[in-house]
Amino acid sequence: MAHFEDATHEYSEDHSSPEGEVLSRLRRDTWLTTTKPQMLSDPIQGRFLSTISKMVRPNRILEFGTFTGYATICLSEGLAPQGEIHTVEINDELERIHDTYFKEAGICEKITRHYGHALDIIKSGEIKGEFDLIWLDADKEHQIEYAEFAISRLRSGGWLLIDNVIWGGAVIDMKKRAKPESGASRIHQLNKYIQDHKDVENVLIPVWDGVQIAMKI
Ligand SMILES: C[S@@+](CC[C@H](N)C(=O)[O-])C[C@H]1O[C@@H](n2cnc3c(N)ncnc32)[C@H](O)[C@@H]1O
Repeated sequence: MAHFEDATHEYSEDHSSPEGEVLSRLRRDTWLTTTKPQMLSDPIQGRFLSTISKMVRPNRILEFGTFTGYATICLSEGLAPQGEIHTVEINDELERIHDTYFKEAGICEKITRHYGHALDIIKSGEIKGEFDLIWLDADKEHQIEYAEFAISRLRSGGWLLIDNVIWGGAVIDMKKRAKPESGASRIHQLNKYIQDHKDVENVLIPVWDGVQIAMKI
């Protein structure tokens, strides 16, 4: 999720539950040791994912785009007691940080990690069964394939969340959208795909960089 530019963000953070000590150290470690730390969810976005998860109380969560595991840990906070989370990440150099912080968060036994390109992981068949909550936050080139897979794997009444669906405002820039390979065009196609999909009801929330929330009918 992209960051708020205005002071209300700070106000929101000051009036929300804190992220907690493990997540705070993970944030610091991410900024000290990774090359694109700005990909990290900020505390409010993390609390948003945690809250959604606590509302859904999922038995099974699927995430595309683990990065350093910040959102993974936030999402895991709402898991049902015997619940599990599967998370997919292309960069296996992040394994060390996953090892450290999934252990500190006490969720190692609840997590199945899948390292590789999300499309290859989908094709391999290693992700099995239905999910109650799916969070898409990997690359933006194959979002429709990921969304198609996600919808096919959601149980009825399950929830799909997709990040960055406003793409910094580019989705309403007609010149950018006219270029078929542009991010604006891809994300616009994704939003149309979700809106027109017969199996989901959706709302595109215009906060941060835009979040699609869709429920499988
Ligand atoms: C925006 S970051 C995810 C941030 C994370 N959800 C968080 O809140 O901290 C996107 C992640 O997707 C991963 N990624 C990019 N392309 C991918 C692909 N094709 N398959 C799997 N993961 C991919 C990147 O390596 C990166 O770690």
